[in-house]
Amino acid sequence: MNSFDVVVIGGGPGGYIAAIRAAQLGLTVACIDEARTAEGKPALGGTCTNLGCIPSKALLQSSENYEQAGHHFASHGVKVKGLELDLKTMLGRKDRVVRQNNDGIAYLFKKNRVVFFHGRGSFRSPTEVMAGEVSLTAKNVIIATGSNPRALPDAAFDEKLILSNTGALAIPEVPKKLGVIGAGVIGLELGSVWRRLGSEVTILEALPAFLGAADEAVAKEAAKVFAKQGLNMELGVQISKVAAVKGVKVDYKGADGAAKTLEVDRLIVSIGRVPNTTGLNAAGVGLKLEERGFIAVDADCRTNLPGVWAIGDVVRGPMLAHKAEDEGVAVAERIAGQKPHVNFNTIPWVIYTSPEIAWVGKTEQQLRSEGVEYRAGTFPFSANARARALGDTTGLVKFLAHAKTDEILGVHIIGPQASEMIAEAVVAMEFHGSAQDIGMICHAHPSLSEAMKDAALAVNRRALNI
Ligand code: FAD
Ligand code: NAI
Repeated sequence: MNSFDVVVIGGGPGGYIAAIRAAQLGLTVACIDEARTAEGKPALGGTCTNLGCIPSKALLQSSENYEQAGHHFASHGVKVKGLELDLKTMLGRKDRVVRQNNDGIAYLFKKNRVVFFHGRGSFRSPTEVMAGEVSLTAKNVIIATGSNPRALPDAAFDEKLILSNTGALAIPEVPKKLGVIGAGVIGLELGSVWRRLGSEVTILEALPAFLGAADEAVAKEAAKVFAKQGLNMELGVQISKVAAVKGVKVDYKGADGAAKTLEVDRLIVSIGRVPNTTGLNAAGVGLKLEERGFIAVDADCRTNLPGVWAIGDVVRGPMLAHKAEDEGVAVAERIAGQKPHVNFNTIPWVIYTSPEIAWVGKTEQQLRSEGVEYRAGTFPFSANARARALGDTTGLVKFLAHAKTDEILGVHIIGPQASEMIAEAVVAMEFHGSAQDIGMICHAHPSLSEAMKDAALAVNRRALNI
């Protein structure tokens, strides 16, 4: 009998983690996913594993190694002769890292007795889901169908010349000239990969301000550093037309209104993502969607249909793998009768450029506009001993704390290993810690994390190393 306590549609980070947690709690669980690898095998792990977080981080690391060997080893007294790029091997390594993660999820499903169905999940009723041709009945259904890249009007992705993340992670030779539309997270990360490998990269961004979601001090520093690295960026543009023939021609209006043209070999379009409800038969079963296509859910991820839940990119909130995972765990626990909570205020953001950018909580401009009384403390990596030893002193750490209670309201980092360092701030904020708490905790010397301590101390004008 194909009858389960929980059926999960989508095997991305939200879906597979929900399935595993539900199984741990003693529920019978099935997970359906339709994705395939290039070889036609089921590809577990969703966008994150196959076309997002994992392959992009693999290429970011490989391209950074190439950049370090080509431009930075010499200053350490390490001479490299005959440095060559072997792109085929680099892309092959990335594919292997992806497969290892696919296999890891398949192993976890087996270990936890999650039954996997390869095919499209489609509702017949709120308690019956088709997995391809197979009918599954479920007391609870968790929808975790993720998101798809948004295309520009009249410029569909062909993944050869006009690339979404799918094509941008698998360009077979380094383009001489690469265009990127959208200076968001994907544009910056994948633009960096191809610049490091030798492309002349131009990023066109519609908004007049760079990286508006980040703290203003971090965004300002990032703009300076990326320009120095050679990422050409034009803000406040309006794209008029994209034509792909041999290369790609982009007609646009500059910030001053002047008509301009950018001619490139390939174009990455990274202008955000749209929720994916294709094939679910949402309308047929009366599943309510919001205006912009997200599945409507309450704070606990309940949809309008009894026993049907939705999590991850297909619902409101940041499109991040760890947000999807935390919602997945919480929904599984709710189904099992527990009372979990996802704290949206302490979800960290990381942009894996070099230097990395990471933050949690409020930005200074948000606190200002909300009229919150706060104090800020900043510490530059140029004054951190470990950063000097690494030879990587770009950037800063900034703490924002409440002016009266000293509770940490936001932490912003641009610099080496920001993705790892932000975890300390997340823990502190989750426990309602104060800037003084971080300032009083012993941090190993010499370590980058001492910049966290110094920035926290700077909130109360007590920084020791500056
Ligand atoms: P997804 O991962 O999109 O998974 C949805 C799954 O559902 C897919 O496998 C799809 O095949 C399946 N599916 C959809 N409809 C059906 C159906 N009807 N039947 C069966 N199966 C179906 N986030 C981070 O936190 N860190 C990062 O570093 C990061 N890097 C990224 C880099 C790139 C280039 C991109 C594109 C995204 C990145 N993200 C990153 C975002 C992250 O990938 C998403 O937030 C995350 O994958 C969302 O998880 P999800 O489970 O909601 O959906
Ligand atoms: P994004 O929302 O980060 O950035 C899109 C950018 O495109 C914005 O700056 C926007 O102003 C601009 N834009 C929109 N329309 C435009 C137009 N017509 N012309 C020019 N510019 C335009 O979206 P992105 O980069 O596509 O990534 C999608 C999501 O994937 C991210 O929001 C993030 O949630 C997730 N992601 C997360 C990563 C991470 O956590 N490190 C890495 C990559 C993606």
